[in-house]
Amino acid sequence: LPIAVLISGGGSNLQALIDKIEEGILDVDIKMVLSNRAGAYGLERAKTHSIPTCVLSHKDFKSREDFDGEMVRILKETGAQAVVMAGFMRIITPVFLNAFSGRIINIHPALLPSFAGAGGQTEAGEYGVQISGCTVHFVDEKMDNGAIIIQAAVPAMPGEDVDVLAKRILRVEHRILPQATQWLAEGRLRTEGRFVKLGLADV
Ligand code: GRF
Repeated sequence: LPIAVLISGGGSNLQALIDKIEEGILDVDIKMVLSNRAGAYGLERAKTHSIPTCVLSHKDFKSREDFDGEMVRILKETGAQAVVMAGFMRIITPVFLNAFSGRIINIHPALLPSFAGAGGQTEAGEYGVQISGCTVHFVDEKMDNGAIIIQAAVPAMPGEDVDVLAKRILRVEHRILPQATQWLAEGRLRTEGRFVKLGLADV
């Protein structure tokens, strides 16, 4: 399955996808890595693996819709049929959603619907949860709101440094994002309203 990966930062989740592809256990082809930040280290990771990259700064566009329209044009040109958001820190509009309807997934570093938003790990840590985790979900027009594909539980140590918890969660993100992406590639994800059911592989 030809995909595009959207990033804004370090790209460790992108790296996890690349590693699984190169191990021969993830049946996707990353046609492009697109970042809304020029300094994103994930762009270096893509270049190291000869994956085309693109930087699209939202500051260069009058509106979210214009930004999304340009992103759609660029990604469609690559032949990408699905989009994986791996640390992409922007809300997308129906312009983008409709272009890749039902084939956009996102990784969130908390057990949605708890701790949605930008600081999931920190909020969970400061709340004193005993169990946190991470979620891969389909993207809809609201932030961190789409139907859930996979969740993984990550034990927390109340009072520990939130960076330690975030790193523990990140390691598990690197397992569930490739798995969800593989199921997407196999056509196994059946969505019925809020429910995602795992069908048999098409392949
Ligand atoms: C991850 O924790 C992801 O869940 C969150 O942003 C972080 C991105 O990390 N949305 P990386 O860029 O994949 O290393």
